Amino acid sequence: MARVTINDIREMKRRGEKITMITSYDYSTAKIVDKVGIPLILVGDSLGMVVLGYENTLPVTMDEMIHHTKAVVRGTQHALIIGDMPFMTYHVSAEDAMRNAARFMQEGGTQAVKLEGGVTVADKVKRIVQCGIPVMGHIGLTPQSVNQLGGHLVQGKRPEVARQLIDDARALEQAGAFSVVLESVPYKLAALITEKVSIPTIGIGAGPSCDGQVQVITDTFGLSDFIPKHAKQYAKVMDIMTNALTEYQEEVKAGKFPTEKHSYIIDQDVIEELKAY
Ligand code: KIV
Repeated sequence: MARVTINDIREMKRRGEKITMITSYDYSTAKIVDKVGIPLILVGDSLGMVVLGYENTLPVTMDEMIHHTKAVVRGTQHALIIGDMPFMTYHVSAEDAMRNAARFMQEGGTQAVKLEGGVTVADKVKRIVQCGIPVMGHIGLTPQSVNQLGGHLVQGKRPEVARQLIDDARALEQAGAFSVVLESVPYKLAALITEKVSIPTIGIGAGPSCDGQVQVITDTFGLSDFIPKHAKQYAKVMDIMTNALTEYQEEVKAGKFPTEKHSYIIDQDVIEELKAY
C-alpha cells in the first residue's frame, strides 16, 4: 500500500475533508494506528514526557527520537510519518537544521519533519524544504519554549500575540511548510488562521475549525497521569492494564498461573530416566 503524501494532505484541505493525526512512539501502537487508516503519525518529542519520563520535552535528543522513529516506521505502511525535531537541533544554524532533518529521513525513515516556531524559524524551514524535506510548522503553545512562555499557557488571547500568530502562520506558508500545528490557541483565532492560510492547520486545543486534529496517543488511550483540557480519553487503558496486572499477580501468588495449557511437555520415560541420574 502506498504511503500518504503531502499532496494527499493538501488535497484533503481543498476538499474540506478533516485530517486526523496522532502521535506514536513504538512499533506495536503504530501498527494499530496504521490499521485504522489515520493518515498522519507524529513521532512527537512528547516522547520525552510520556515514554521516557522527563519533566518536559527539553532533554530529548536526536538519537532518542531516531530510535523510536525507526520502530514507528517499521510498524507502518500507509501513514505519512513526521519526525519531531528536538530542542536546539534546528536553532543554531540552517546547516544544523538541514543535517538533523536529513537524519530523520535517512536514519529514521520518515517522510517529513516538524519544528516549532514561526517567523523566527522560517529561514530554516525554507532551507530544509529546499533539500526536498517536507516540513510541518508548529505555533501557539510551543512546548520547547515552555520556560520563555512561563508555562503551558493558551497563546493568542492578546491582540499583539494573536497578530504574531497570524504572521507566524503566513511566514511558514511562505517558507514552504506543507501544514502547521496550532497548539492551545483560542478556537475563533484558530478558525481565522485556518481561513488566512492555504496550508492545512492541524489543531490541538485549537477548536473544531482547524483542517485537522492531533492528539497525544497516551491521552487518547487514558494512559496519562494528567489529562489536559483539550484531550479526550477514548478508552481507559490504564484501568484495563492495572486490572490485568493485578489479576496476573494474584494468580501467580495463588499458583493458578501458569496451568498445563501454558507449559511445555516432555515424555514421561525421559523424566523416569532422569530421576536416577
Ligand atoms: O510532541 C508532540 O506530541 C507534539 C504534538 C502535541 C503536536 O508536538
